[in-house]
Amino acid sequence: MKIAVLISGRGSNLQSLIDACATDDFPAEIVLVISNKADAYGLKRADEASIPTAIFNHKDFATREEFDDAMSNAIEAAGAEFICLAGFMRLLSDTFVKRWHDRLINIHPSLLPTFKGLHVHEQVIERGALFSGCTVHFVRAAMDEGPIIAQAVIPVKPDDNADTLAARVLEQEHVIYPKALRLIAEGRVRVSGERAIIDGRKTPDGHLANPE
Ligand code: GRF
Repeated sequence: MKIAVLISGRGSNLQSLIDACATDDFPAEIVLVISNKADAYGLKRADEASIPTAIFNHKDFATREEFDDAMSNAIEAAGAEFICLAGFMRLLSDTFVKRWHDRLINIHPSLLPTFKGLHVHEQVIERGALFSGCTVHFVRAAMDEGPIIAQAVIPVKPDDNADTLAARVLEQEHVIYPKALRLIAEGRVRVSGERAIIDGRKTPDGHLANPE
């Protein structure tokens, strides 16, 4: 499966996908990395992996739709059929989200549907949550909404601050994002209503998850 990855910055999740795609039997290939920031460190990671890159500065476009259409066209021209958002910090238009319906996923550093939006780890600590984690989900028009494909859970420690919590969540992001992408590329994920059904997935106690 040919994919495009959209980034805005550091690109550590992009790196986890690059590393996964470089393993022998991985069923996906990154054919384009797009950034809306020219100085995103993730662009260097793509260069190092010899993956084509493109920069789309939203300020060069009159409307959000024009910006999104330009990206869609570049993604299709590169032959990509699927998109992974990895720290892409622009809201996408309804048109873009519809065009890529069920072919567009995101990683968010909380256990959705709790703690949406920005400053997630601060929110988690402020609310005294005992657990946090991360979620890979299909993208819908509303921010941080959509069928959940994979999650990892970690305990919040009493002495955690936003940075220490973010670092432990990030480690798990790098584990679940490639796993979720593999499931999709293997054709094991379908969407039923607002729920992702994973073929053959087992819960830790050995039962099939998402039974129908
Ligand atoms: C990650 O925490 C991701 O969950 C969120 O933005 C951050 C991106 O980090 N959507 P990186 O650029 O992948 O290092």
